[in-house]
Amino acid sequence: MRSSYLLKFLLPAAFAQHDNGGDENGTANTTIVTSDGAGTQTQSGDHVIQVGDGGFVFTPDTVTAAVGDKIQFVFHPMNHSVVRSTFDDPCVPTTEGTIFSGFVPVDSGTSPNVFIVTVNDTNPAWLYCSQNRDSHCQNGMVMVINPLTTGPNTLAAYKEAATKTSESISPPEIVGGEFSNTNNSVSPNGASPPLHGTSRATEMTSNV
Ligand SMILES: *[C@@H]1O[C@H](CO)[C@@H](O)[C@H](O)[C@H]1NC(C)=O
Ligand SMILES: *[C@@H]1O[C@H](CO)[C@@H](O)[C@H](O)[C@H]1NC(C)=O
Ligand SMILES: *[C@@H]1O[C@H](CO)[C@@H](O)[C@H](O)[C@H]1NC(C)=O
Ligand SMILES: *[C@@H]1O[C@H](CO)[C@@H](O)[C@H](O)[C@H]1NC(C)=O
Ligand SMILES: *[C@@H]1O[C@H](CO)[C@@H](O)[C@H](O)[C@H]1NC(C)=O
Repeated sequence: MRSSYLLKFLLPAAFAQHDNGGDENGTANTTIVTSDGAGTQTQSGDHVIQVGDGGFVFTPDTVTAAVGDKIQFVFHPMNHSVVRSTFDDPCVPTTEGTIFSGFVPVDSGTSPNVFIVTVNDTNPAWLYCSQNRDSHCQNGMVMVINPLTTGPNTLAAYKEAATKTSESISPPEIVGGEFSNTNNSVSPNGASPPLHGTSRATEMTSNV
């Protein structure tokens, strides 16, 4: 609860700095954390997905996003990933428009780094966690961006198909998004944080 509350503040703040050139000196400061601005600072076009918050789940597991929107994945404990598959082949990466966050081990709280995917089209994007230890995808850890509102390709059907696979495949390297360090948005003295936090992304991005 507390961590997700904090993230509501931290992530939008990170984005505001990243995207608004006009927000020149990083207005984030500790005072703001104490005010309950839950959600109000989220820019339209940003969507925050909790990865593994309380089990094998993405929360929310369905997102409607426009071209240009950014999806921020926040990692919770265990060791999750975000991978894109086709509807027909759950738990297996797509060969085009591939998305892979890499594995993000978290002991407690949430990862300081969020994985950010920019939506390039409004086609459905089916996503899963490729962790084979405890069979995350097979246990229903899946979600969708922009599902069709009619027809058989529902999240429930995708999830059901995922349970019938025997293992998950991970792409060889991080692709389809980038990491941003939310630490950048929290400088207690209002000091200018480095913009474009991706340059300070973790070692995980070194093979991008
Ligand atoms: C923010 O930047 C402006 C000029 O760019 C400066 O006048 C102002 O003092 C700064 N505010 C803080 C809190 O650093
Ligand atoms: C922090 O934010 C509060 C509320 O917006 C503001 O009153 C205060 O001056 C800020 N402090 C710094 C150091 O920028
Ligand atoms: C996270 O999971 C991946 C894939 O199973 C594994 O290679 C990696 O060693 C794990 N990392 C930790 C810290 O458990
Ligand atoms: C969206 O396009 C950008 C720029 O071409 C690319 O880097 C990114 O991987 C694409 N995102 C997805 C989800 O394919
Ligand atoms: C984020 O900040 C925490 C606390 O200051 C620090 O322990 C951690 O290493 C930082 N993470 C990154 C990726 O800079």
